[in-house]
Amino acid sequence: MRIVPGSANPALAQAVANHLGVETDGCTLQRFPDGELRPQVENACGADVYIVQPTSPPVNEHLVELLLLVDACRRSRAGRVTAVVPYFGYARQDRRTAPGQALGSAVVADAIAAAGADRLVVVDPHTPELEAVCRIPAETLSAVPALAGALAGHLPDGTVVVAPDLGAVKLAERYAAVLHGPVAVVRKQRGAGSAVAALDVAGDVIGRTAVIVDDMITTGATIEAAVGLLRAGGAAHDIVVAATHGLFVHAAAGRLQDLGLRRVLVSDTVAVKNTGATIEIASVAPTIADAIACLHTDKPLRDPPIPAR
Ligand code: R5P
Repeated sequence: MRIVPGSANPALAQAVANHLGVETDGCTLQRFPDGELRPQVENACGADVYIVQPTSPPVNEHLVELLLLVDACRRSRAGRVTAVVPYFGYARQDRRTAPGQALGSAVVADAIAAAGADRLVVVDPHTPELEAVCRIPAETLSAVPALAGALAGHLPDGTVVVAPDLGAVKLAERYAAVLHGPVAVVRKQRGAGSAVAALDVAGDVIGRTAVIVDDMITTGATIEAAVGLLRAGGAAHDIVVAATHGLFVHAAAGRLQDLGLRRVLVSDTVAVKNTGATIEIASVAPTIADAIACLHTDKPLRDPPIPAR
């Protein structure tokens, strides 16, 4: 077994390797003056290789590096190549919303397969249907047990789990199953660019502490809009936010800091930069390590420890 760290999140690759009790593999990345990348892997010949590379911002750069790494392993005659892509960029492009658009999630999944990956491992992809557009087997892991586990026991009775848009309802239900609370849903409208409006909320939030859950925080606009709506609707001022992927682009971290939230929790699928804001991290390294151990020995993946509803 070889764990090959891409440059997007070497700390996560190292943490995964530590959990597995193996070393990460040597991998160098040459950058040419014109921006071209040339990664080089060691010891891949005959090995069961796991390349750990979220396609987080800069998305296209990290994606091309991943494709080159997969190809490098294949050309080194690796026995099997698994692309571990904890954050799968382009997953939001899961359908065409206007004529003339591309289907980004399918294009990226195809590219990873075409580069020579035998399997794909992702964590909480934006679209659960990602697996359906992959022509190689895809395993979907979740950060919900790690994130909800870090919240459980630290919330007052009556806490409500809030989906900040309709797409997050299933995710909210999974948190609610662990936290044993009700679910409320915000109706969100996205305007031009990153403008977001929270229109109304379905569910009882009055006087309750809210845990807003989402698959990702990008600019922070979705969270900001939900927080404003919940407070205006009588929720307790004390609001907690949990999201799998902390992309924190533009001034997202400062934006959340200004909201006076009780806690902001993300996983380490994406390397969290020194944002200056107080962001807590719950690691998915044990979850990924556990999955790799099962894949390496051709055993079925263990179900995530989420109680059935
Ligand atoms: C959208 O459907 C996603 O689930 C997230 O809500 C969204 O990507 C978050 O982006 P932002 O932080 O820019 O509002």
